[in-house]
Amino acid sequence: MSDFLSLSKKRRSVRSYKKQQIDEKVLERILDAARMAPSARNSQNWKFIVVKDQKRKEELTAATKGQSFINQAPVIIAGVGLESDKVMSCDVPTYAVDLGIAMEHIALAAADEGLGSCWIGAFFQDKVKEVLNISDTAKVVALMPIGYPADSPKEKERKSLEEVVSYDKF
Ligand SMILES: Cc1cc2nc3c(=O)[nH]c(=O)nc-3n(C[C@H](O)[C@H](O)[C@H](O)COP(=O)(O)O)c2cc1C
Repeated sequence: MSDFLSLSKKRRSVRSYKKQQIDEKVLERILDAARMAPSARNSQNWKFIVVKDQKRKEELTAATKGQSFINQAPVIIAGVGLESDKVMSCDVPTYAVDLGIAMEHIALAAADEGLGSCWIGAFFQDKVKEVLNISDTAKVVALMPIGYPADSPKEKERKSLEEVVSYDKF
């Protein structure tokens, strides 16, 4: 199996974290993977807000829909699209695609470092913006807690390739 395929199978949603802190160098490599992500027109209209402050993490947790495990993680990264009104000619919002790719780079880079992460899309946009002092024109696409896993992997539930792939037509 290629290294990349095994990494993509290793990446999973972790919802329980150890207290162990993340080394600054490790965190920097993970953020660098986000920086390397492609974006439409290479606009890089994004900001990755790294939240480590305990009080702010608690405020963020309160801004999610009761997902208290987020607060256990030593770091929470908020992926923010800076221009939420831009839409590509294919009628898809640019920031959502750009940030989706970049945040998954973070999740994969974290998995590569032996860390766990979880995509969090269930949060109150206005509350998170208020906690992190984010401007009206920006949009938070995801929150991502990162830390050393305190749980064990389960079998991945995925549809079969036959179900999700078609050739030459829908
Ligand atoms: C856009 C997006 C939003 C998600 N939001 C949440 C969330 O708010 N809370 C949560 O626990 N998991 C969330 N997830 C994680 C999914 O439930 C998870 O990726 C899916 O069940 C597949 O499991 P796996 O990540 O372990 O492979 C989200 C995933 C994505 C991609």
